[in-house]
Amino acid sequence: MQAAATALLVLSQVAATSCIGLRNLTSSPQETIDNTRPVGNNIISHDHTFTTEFLGLQLANNSASHRDLGFTGQLGGQWYAVYGDVLWCAPGVKDPAQDPPGFHGMVRDAISLCTDNPLVVHDLHLDSEGRQQQFVPYNEEWGEAADFGFGGTSLVEVDGETNTGALFYLINGNKTGYRGAGIAKVQLVDGAPTVTHRSGDRGYWWDANTTARYGDIAAFRDPRSDYVYAWGGAPMNITDWVQAAYVYQCRVKAADAFDITRYEYWWGRQMGWKSEPPATFTAETAVMWMSGQGQVVWNQHLGCYVFVRLGPMTNEVLLRTAPQHEGPWSDDVKVFNATPIGQDGMTYAGVAHPYLDPSGRSMVISYTNNNNIEVIRVTFDE
Ligand SMILES: *[C@@H]1O[C@H](CO)[C@@H](O)[C@H](O)[C@H]1NC(C)=O
Ligand SMILES: *[C@@H]1O[C@H](CO)[C@@H](O)[C@H](O)[C@H]1NC(C)=O
Ligand SMILES: *[C@@H]1O[C@H](CO)[C@@H](O)[C@H](O)[C@H]1NC(C)=O
Ligand SMILES: *[C@@H]1O[C@H](CO)[C@@H](O)[C@H](O)[C@H]1NC(C)=O
Ligand SMILES: *[C@@H]1O[C@H](CO)[C@@H](O)[C@H](O)[C@H]1NC(C)=O
Repeated sequence: MQAAATALLVLSQVAATSCIGLRNLTSSPQETIDNTRPVGNNIISHDHTFTTEFLGLQLANNSASHRDLGFTGQLGGQWYAVYGDVLWCAPGVKDPAQDPPGFHGMVRDAISLCTDNPLVVHDLHLDSEGRQQQFVPYNEEWGEAADFGFGGTSLVEVDGETNTGALFYLINGNKTGYRGAGIAKVQLVDGAPTVTHRSGDRGYWWDANTTARYGDIAAFRDPRSDYVYAWGGAPMNITDWVQAAYVYQCRVKAADAFDITRYEYWWGRQMGWKSEPPATFTAETAVMWMSGQGQVVWNQHLGCYVFVRLGPMTNEVLLRTAPQHEGPWSDDVKVFNATPIGQDGMTYAGVAHPYLDPSGRSMVISYTNNNNIEVIRVTFDE
């Protein structure tokens, strides 16, 4: 489980039903502006019918582990999936379904090459025993240890000439709590995306206690502009569960991604983009509420941005649409009902695979189901 998913799932146990009604009760009366409420028509329900098929489990063709997330992103003309916790299978096991019970070791995140088969990825950074190594390395000089999590979202390309990418991540100190959100430089080393630098004095920029955890919910390299967008959960010192579930966004020109002074922060539709992070964390300065982790893509067929996510605790794969990243986002359309695997199986983290159909006529989507990655395909009508 990654940081955000855990927090949101805990929250959503309280909020699973009638979120709007509960939110009314706890909102302060003077809070009249709510930029997180759905506005406009969801392009999908309004203009399109669709069919959804379940494709199966995504597996690696060269390694076996149980894993979550797998957010996709592009670098140097290839697409890669970034996973969260990767629980290795026992030595010699080729199929995770055949893994004997027990703990066989793990890393906190990993990266794999996507293939043209939605059910197959190729694991990268394997050790001599064929086990996948951690993608974002921890740094003991910053007081980090092997149990630190680095919840990453999508790899974003920031310089196509030098094949340089970036990964936003949230540092989870495990026993010591969340430190902050940061960004890593990713370069191709021996053909494999590799973290070559982590920005910030202690490997992060945005203190988790006082600023939004940018990049923790989603990250997106917009193919239609120069920008990278990152969405993140509220600061951790906000303890009211309603306020803690708002989602904030920032952006930066891709070429400036490693310069924190070039970031712009969204303060809501009334105040727009500013060079300082928001001073207040409210329904006005937020862009979404209780979204869970997901992925934003531009869909050529629909002519809009689509945010892919799972309803917290509902096992529903949901799509919302917007004309631009700032929103307003529409309400959600349910495209699939996932079936949790196992008694305590949890489904979360909506992942898009746009490289499989650049036309946008169909969308391949994956999500986590109890440490398995399941894949569906949604096909829109003409
Ligand atoms: C509660 O939210 C609903 C839906 O947005 C809105 O129509 C209604 O006016 C709100 N009620 C109160 C008391 O704020
Ligand atoms: C796994 O997939 C990669 C990428 O498509 C391919 O290069 C490799 O040959 C495949 N490996 C096996 C064992 O099939
Ligand atoms: C995090 O801390 C808990 C409690 O001390 C421990 O049980 C768990 O194994 C740790 N997680 C990792 C990934 O080491
Ligand atoms: C965040 O606040 C908690 C509680 O005050 C504190 O223990 C922790 O050290 C703070 N984290 C950082 C990164 O400053
Ligand atoms: C969180 O920390 C910020 C910065 O120190 C402070 O302004 C704010 O009042 C704190 N919020 C809460 C709910 O403690």
